[in-house]
Amino acid sequence: MRLRPARVDDIAMLKRWDEKPHVASAGGDGGWYDWDREIPREADWGELLIAEEDGRPVGVLEIIDPAREPTRYWGDVGESLRAIDIWIGEEADLGRGLGTQMMRAALARCFAAPDVKAVLIDPLESNAGARRFYERVGFHFVEARVFGTDPCVVYRLDRADFEALAGRS
Ligand SMILES: CC(C)(COP(=O)(O)OP(=O)(O)OC[C@H]1O[C@@H](n2cnc3c(N)ncnc32)[C@H](O)[C@@H]1OP(=O)(O)O)[C@@H](O)C(=O)NCCC(=O)NCCS
Repeated sequence: MRLRPARVDDIAMLKRWDEKPHVASAGGDGGWYDWDREIPREADWGELLIAEEDGRPVGVLEIIDPAREPTRYWGDVGESLRAIDIWIGEEADLGRGLGTQMMRAALARCFAAPDVKAVLIDPLESNAGARRFYERVGFHFVEARVFGTDPCVVYRLDRADFEALAGRS
C-alpha cells in the first residue's frame, strides 16, 4: 500500500468513482469534491492522496488540518489536529482490508508530525459500515454533530491510542 499525491490525470477516475453508489451515499448532501478545482491546488493545510496497491489506484483520502482549512468546515476546532476522509473506488475492492491499510498509512503520516495530538473522522450517522470500520481501526466516539445539513458522528483517535496500536502490530 502506497499513498501518493493526487494528480490532474487522476481526475477522470475520481469522477468515475464519485458515481458509484457506495461513494455517493457516503458523501452527504454536499457530495464530495470539485476535483477540477481541488486537484491542481497547492495547499499547506492539507493533502489529497491516492492509495495504490501494487501500482493500481484503489482509493483516495484527504488529510486536513481542520483549524487551518479555509472553509472552516470543522468550525471552532482546536490546534494540532488532523481530519481524514477516506474511500475505496471500486465496489470489488470493498471489504478486502485495503481501507484498513490505507487508514494505518494515513495515521502514520498524520502522527509523523510531532505536534499532532489526535485525528478526527466525521462519517454520516447512517453510515453504519464506516462507523464499524473506524471503531475497529481504534477510533472512539466523541459526539453526534450536524455538518451543513448532514447528521454525522465525530470519532477521534489520540496519539496515545495510535502508539498503543502501533506497538501491537
Ligand atoms: C469505509 C471503507 C473506507 C472501509 O474500507 P474497506 O477496505 O472496505 O474496509 P476493510 O476491508 O479494511 O474492513 C472491512 C470493514 O469495513 C467496513 N465497511 C464499511 N463499508 C463497507 C462496504 N461497503 N463493504 C464492505 N465493508 C465495509 C465494515 O466494517 C467491514 O467490516 P465487516 O465486514 O466486519 O462489516 C470503505 O468500505 C468505503 O470506501 N466505503 C464507502 C465510502 C465510505 O463510507 N467512506 C467513509 C466516509 S466517512
